[in-house]
Amino acid sequence: MENNNIYPIFDRMMTRADKENLLGQHSVMVWFTGLSGSGKSTVAIALERELHQRGILCRILDGDNIRSGINNNLGFSEADRVENIRRIAEVAKLFVDTGIVTIAAFISPSNDIREMAADIIGKDDFVEVYVSTPIEECERRDVKGLYAKARRGEIKNFTGISASFEAPEHPSLTLDTSVLSLEDSVHRLLELILPRIQKK
Ligand code: ADX
Repeated sequence: MENNNIYPIFDRMMTRADKENLLGQHSVMVWFTGLSGSGKSTVAIALERELHQRGILCRILDGDNIRSGINNNLGFSEADRVENIRRIAEVAKLFVDTGIVTIAAFISPSNDIREMAADIIGKDDFVEVYVSTPIEECERRDVKGLYAKARRGEIKNFTGISASFEAPEHPSLTLDTSVLSLEDSVHRLLELILPRIQKK
């Protein structure tokens, strides 16, 4: 990119290591991907609660919240989903660089989109968790009534119905919430990430 008279000052600011020392934790990005209704937000919230109780500072970024605020000018075309995730990844990076355990719950429906997020945030910090609940179960739950609307043709580009979802190839963890209890899912997550978060 050309230099447009922008001079970042990152080198003079307090570092991530300083922040991590202050908080007594290592930060990490926990990235949930999966269909609408798969349980991403529920698991993310339960994970945050568990970590918080252990004295770990977390921040959740969640699809419906972010799309009501910073990304309220974006829809569900492919280009808008890319821009949605690009902004989210940039915001997530700020949290990770502040030493905060950052938990994202977004459909993020393609390998390309998730790879872009991992590239922005940094692959070493990026833990990909696939919430693999089958679409039949997501549609049966239909918590927001969106599957019914999508089936009636009232929502276009609906993930899993009229827009694609690509399962991740090598997620760090896969959680099918139609067979795992919430406690089991959180337990598996804690086993995976606590060793990365805790300072020796
Ligand atoms: S993403 O594909 O760009 O990653 P994101 O996670 O931000 O999606 O938002 C998904 C949420 O938006 C869903 O949980 C659902 O509540 C809502 N939504 C509205 N329209 C759609 C649509 N066409 N496809 C998927 N989700 C939609």
